Amino acid sequence: MSTQASYAPNSALLFERAKQVMPSGYTRHMAVTNPHPVYAEKADGCWITDVEGNKRIDYVNNFSALIHGHNKKEITDIVTSQVSCLISAILPSEWEIKLAELITARIPSCEQVRFMNSGTEAVMIAVKAGRAYSGKSKIAKMEGGYHGQFDLTETSFQPNPGNWGSENAPNSVAYTQGTPKSVTDEVVILPLNNIEAARAILRANADDIGTVIIDPLRLQLGMVEPDLDYLEMLREETEALGMVLVFDEVFSLRSSYGGTQGLRGVTPDLTAMGKIIGGGMPIGGLGGKKEFMSVFALDDGDPKVKHSGTFTANPMSMATGYVGMSLMTPEAFAELDRLGEKLREGLRKIAGDLGVVGHVEGVGSLNALIMHEAPIKNYREFVGAVQAGFLDRIQVFHQLLLEQRLLTMRGGFILSTAMTDDDIDFTLEGVSKALTQMQAL
Ligand SMILES: Cc1ncc(COP(=O)(O)O)c(C=O)c1O
Repeated sequence: MSTQASYAPNSALLFERAKQVMPSGYTRHMAVTNPHPVYAEKADGCWITDVEGNKRIDYVNNFSALIHGHNKKEITDIVTSQVSCLISAILPSEWEIKLAELITARIPSCEQVRFMNSGTEAVMIAVKAGRAYSGKSKIAKMEGGYHGQFDLTETSFQPNPGNWGSENAPNSVAYTQGTPKSVTDEVVILPLNNIEAARAILRANADDIGTVIIDPLRLQLGMVEPDLDYLEMLREETEALGMVLVFDEVFSLRSSYGGTQGLRGVTPDLTAMGKIIGGGMPIGGLGGKKEFMSVFALDDGDPKVKHSGTFTANPMSMATGYVGMSLMTPEAFAELDRLGEKLREGLRKIAGDLGVVGHVEGVGSLNALIMHEAPIKNYREFVGAVQAGFLDRIQVFHQLLLEQRLLTMRGGFILSTAMTDDDIDFTLEGVSKALTQMQAL
């Protein structure tokens, strides 16, 4: 099968320049595309235009952050008015209170919130809070779990069969070369969806683990969710063993009005947020019950965890986030759910009719066509699927969808409120053509 990108001379030229000034031409490894990236020119609504003038429906939405797509009037209005009013300052602004009020009103486990500039930072501060609250330094995370760029939580994001150790007691494997052993020694790895093994690991390390972190809806495995009874086990064990349970909802908050925790009915102690809460501007957030957020409080003089930052809670991100999130009413989520269901149904029908190997997963605005027969339940099954050609098939699909004017990533279709029924119909037609072409290769 060919994975050759279509002819894109302007992008190719830009990439030549990029390679002179950025290692291998990129500044974002998650966006690497062979043989070179397609460069963006502009975007409007759900359509993004590249430097060749090709217009495509954007189903990536900057890795899910742009829940309203591009150029939504209310968002551009607030950006324009705020930029001429106040970009950033040492003084706090009312916008941060407004955004905090909005989040605390819709996510019951978040009685209080703090803000950062990225999801990575939110996770980093969550770990500090977990340590300070529990008095124990180690963290536990899922094998294959993605939580951003922090070296502690990127541990065992992508281990391989040569270093991952036993299935029931996975090794803690550094993601980046040069990571000190002292870092990986602080991380205990849990096998996702293996209740008995994970429970045993948590109990055996109860004196050392202070924080357990999980993303309750996993992007990198194609939207595969942790089983509900696995989440319930984590809730039960962390409570019994004096550990702080952190849900990394940086990605999954998009799944419903109250995030994935609202859908699944399991309540964490702390919630890391990002992406959609910025309305398109850079942001991170950490919320939790007052009891857990008290580690930041100044009640007794010095807080247990000090947290600041030059651009923290900058009025641009706070104002844009507030406007963007205010538009995400229960009705707006319901409409995304409806469009998501229409897309999933259509994808299922096309895949079934064409006899495509794969299945459709998703919830609300987050959808994926997983080009692998069986549902993938954990990281090791994902690696098995990759070895069986899973990612190669997705790469070919991606290229063929570009020809159909659809921009996707890893088989994922992430919706925005800018999309309509017509866009979904257009998409299904394109998917059908792309899959038919794929079968002929
Ligand atoms: C679950 C999860 N956690 C954390 C992050 C990191 O967020 P950011 O890229 O804003 O640092 C991401 C980003 O994709 C994510 O999906």
